[in-house]
Amino acid sequence: MKIKKAVVPVAGLGTRFLPATKAIPKEMLTIVDRPTIQYIVEEVVASGIKEVVLVTASGKSAIENHFDYSFELETFLAQKGKLDLLREVKHISRLIDVVSVRQKEPLGLGHAVMVTENVIGEEPFVVVLGDDLVDAEVPCVYQMLRVFEKYQEAVVAVQRVPMEETHRYGIVEGEELEDGVFKVSRLIEKPAPGTTKSNLAIIGRYVLRPEIYDCLHRTLPGVGGEIQLTDALDMLRKERALYAYEFEGRRFDAGDKFGYLQATVNFALEHPELGARFRKFLKEVAKGL
Ligand code: UTP
Repeated sequence: MKIKKAVVPVAGLGTRFLPATKAIPKEMLTIVDRPTIQYIVEEVVASGIKEVVLVTASGKSAIENHFDYSFELETFLAQKGKLDLLREVKHISRLIDVVSVRQKEPLGLGHAVMVTENVIGEEPFVVVLGDDLVDAEVPCVYQMLRVFEKYQEAVVAVQRVPMEETHRYGIVEGEELEDGVFKVSRLIEKPAPGTTKSNLAIIGRYVLRPEIYDCLHRTLPGVGGEIQLTDALDMLRKERALYAYEFEGRRFDAGDKFGYLQATVNFALEHPELGARFRKFLKEVAKGL
């Protein structure tokens, strides 16, 4: 079955990025020349998905507006003959069909996925976190869809992290079935040091089956009183199956100040107009370190 919908949760409070995120959603913070959320949506579109379900909250309307048609702006740019900018603005408003669902309280990622149940229905779908960037030659979501096509069960994206950082992630253990594809046998949320030998950490990309909703309904609030997607995934693993996929590409947590800086440098170096100048600048800075 072809996957047509992507859920992008953007309802979190972004407390790690305060004060920048007091009035601006973290997903709208700019990385070089585009807001973080545009990179996410472009990855989804490049993976063949046009329908995006945004899980939003109050104060997040800038995200919906960014992908909407702006009559005033387009008319203004056309009248002034600023055709390159007009093309860019039109491109954004035509990228996706957006449906917004409100998460009335930030009760966790699991809860954010749960509120999309009526919009998604009985189809498999992908979840892409609104602040998790992956720079890859083949879009990460596309790589994951290929794994789903083969196994027809839920897939989580994983990356290897240093052992001393495993306590910050959801960690999976499992048997490697083929290059980079694991059948998950255990899922541990933020493991205490020494409690796992695995360093395969879950990042913000998931391909899910509709059965996840039933698991979410039965998931009790976990760490921080939030409904954790990881807990529901563990249930799904026990009742059906769960696969983990070590994707090819570089991942940045743009909801974290340091991750955001890394993403900015990475995408600035790759930028077609700014990259060469920025590289030269970085070399000059490095000389003084
Ligand atoms: P994060 O944990 O990174 O988001 O969730 P947060 O809660 O905004 O971050 P901090 O810790 O306060 O800085 C990952 C993604 O899930 C969304 C967030 O918007 C983010 O894109 N999310 C999280 C929701 O939509 N609802 C929630 O209840 C929690």
